[in-house]
Amino acid sequence: MLEPVSVERLVINFKTLEEFKQFKNYGNQELSMLEDLQGNIIENDSVSPFFGIYYGSALVARMSLYRVDAKYDQYFDPPQDYLELWKLEVLPGYRDKGFGKKLVDFAKQYELPIKTSPLINSQGFWEKMGFHKAKYDMERDLGSNPLIWTPEGVTEKETSAFGNTQTL
Ligand SMILES: CC(C)(COP(=O)(O)OP(=O)(O)OC[C@H]1O[C@@H](n2cnc3c(N)ncnc32)[C@H](O)[C@@H]1OP(=O)(O)O)[C@@H](O)C(=O)NCCC(=O)NCCS
Repeated sequence: MLEPVSVERLVINFKTLEEFKQFKNYGNQELSMLEDLQGNIIENDSVSPFFGIYYGSALVARMSLYRVDAKYDQYFDPPQDYLELWKLEVLPGYRDKGFGKKLVDFAKQYELPIKTSPLINSQGFWEKMGFHKAKYDMERDLGSNPLIWTPEGVTEKETSAFGNTQTL
């Protein structure tokens, strides 16, 4: 680590949205925030599900983190609130300095189970962070490869590889 940095909740304003453009994983979520800001549907400096790390005045790492209600939980036993972590990304030039780990450790602080769907090639990083592949459930996981992390005492839900899918 170069010097101490902290994880901050990001507010949505034109400056943050401009900074987001540097991240590869910029997409519909950010574009719709921009439209909402331009159309005064959301106020300047609204809270967002994003957290980030500033290095000097530059946003160099970010993730989106939100809490999913237990009634939608399909991963843990018994069903419980968990965190969905996505869009974790560290800008090139700032990687391998502990910023990715710092964001994941921040999410772990809530002591809730965490689910993420990683980008290809980042598997090694997630393993180091203590995440493992969720037991495959065809109906639930079709087209995605969720990884999960559980705090002590939390159990993963048992699944069937075929889910409840009806054969044709
Ligand atoms: C994946 C990513 C979020 C990791 O963040 P980071 O800040 O670079 O990672 P950190 O410095 O916090 O690394 C923590 C540990 O994970 C390891 N690590 C980082 N990226 C890794 C990877 N892709 N594969 C295996 N291990 C990795 C680090 O070596 C470090 O290990 P150590 O604790 O033994 O020193 C970041 O590199 C990124 O945004 N990459 C671009 C998107 C992507 O997924 N790329 C995949 C690599 S091409």
